[in-house]
Amino acid sequence: MNFVGEHILSVSQFDRADVDRVFQIADKMEPYANRQKITRVLQGAILSNMFFEASTRTRVSFGSAFNLLGGDVRETTGVSQSAIAKGESLRDFAKVMSGYSDVIAMRHSVAGSVAEFASASRSPVINGGDGENEHPSQALLDLYTIAKELASRDKTIDELRIAVVGDLKYGRAVHSLLKLLAVFDSVSVNLVSPPGLQTPPEIVELLQNQGHIVSTFERLEEGISAVDILYVTRTQEERFSSQEEADRYRGLFRVNEAIYTQHCEPNTVIMHPLPRDSRAAAQELSEDLDNNPNLAIFRQTDNGILIRMALFALVLDVTDRIEEHSSPVTWNTRIRTRDP
Ligand code: CP
Repeated sequence: MNFVGEHILSVSQFDRADVDRVFQIADKMEPYANRQKITRVLQGAILSNMFFEASTRTRVSFGSAFNLLGGDVRETTGVSQSAIAKGESLRDFAKVMSGYSDVIAMRHSVAGSVAEFASASRSPVINGGDGENEHPSQALLDLYTIAKELASRDKTIDELRIAVVGDLKYGRAVHSLLKLLAVFDSVSVNLVSPPGLQTPPEIVELLQNQGHIVSTFERLEEGISAVDILYVTRTQEERFSSQEEADRYRGLFRVNEAIYTQHCEPNTVIMHPLPRDSRAAAQELSEDLDNNPNLAIFRQTDNGILIRMALFALVLDVTDRIEEHSSPVTWNTRIRTRDP
């Protein structure tokens, strides 16, 4: 992958060297994300940050990442606030918005919609999540987090043992993560989901065809023992055709301190793409784990900034000029700390 000027729509675009390249640039972003230095390398550039479906961390971290590189951000949130509500096609919309923007980040509820938009865009488009299909920047930040967490345990992504738990049918973050894991070696994947919410068969086949071991479980306790990473997901209620259907799955799988202590190996890393559903009826990842040092969920969200900065720097071809446009910060940064 060349990156420069390219759309980033699917993790299928990435081979292992591409993943390594993103991680290498993400590492270089640490001093800027940590407010040790600032850079103006994208001064004058405009990101159109267009989210037609609810988002907190993807939307804000794309915008913050662009700001941290010195660029400006224009936000569009919700279909009702755009001319799509008047019947404008995604292709017309792309032709207009790409004339206003150097790069576009976009989320939409329909699978394939971001690719349709990108096909008419004159500026590079980064997929911030399209329906149940893909969420490539989430997969990259998840994998980056996995690599860092494993490194602190003297392990690598090759030979990783991971359990992925919950709604594996509609979870786009899981779909992208599993596809991206396929480019590594000897990965062992436990897919833990209730009947009706299993992983799409083409993703299972992709992993198996690359020589990885895939096991499926319907009981939480059986699937989460003997893994390095426990990756929990929310039931994607917004994808169900009726509330009654969603209600059937709510609260079926709950990871909490007692389950974790009883069934997981010590030091198993706990991850979740967030948001987690903390309402009493759901609680797929209990807040009673919040003081567990193996809970990496807020390290994931911090890493989202590094990965999204790296994607912008690669796509806009400034990876070699970040330092040259840097300067010291001017405010008191001791008031801010990273998640330990
Ligand atoms: N992980 C994720 O996509 O979160 P948001 O929906 O808040 O963007």
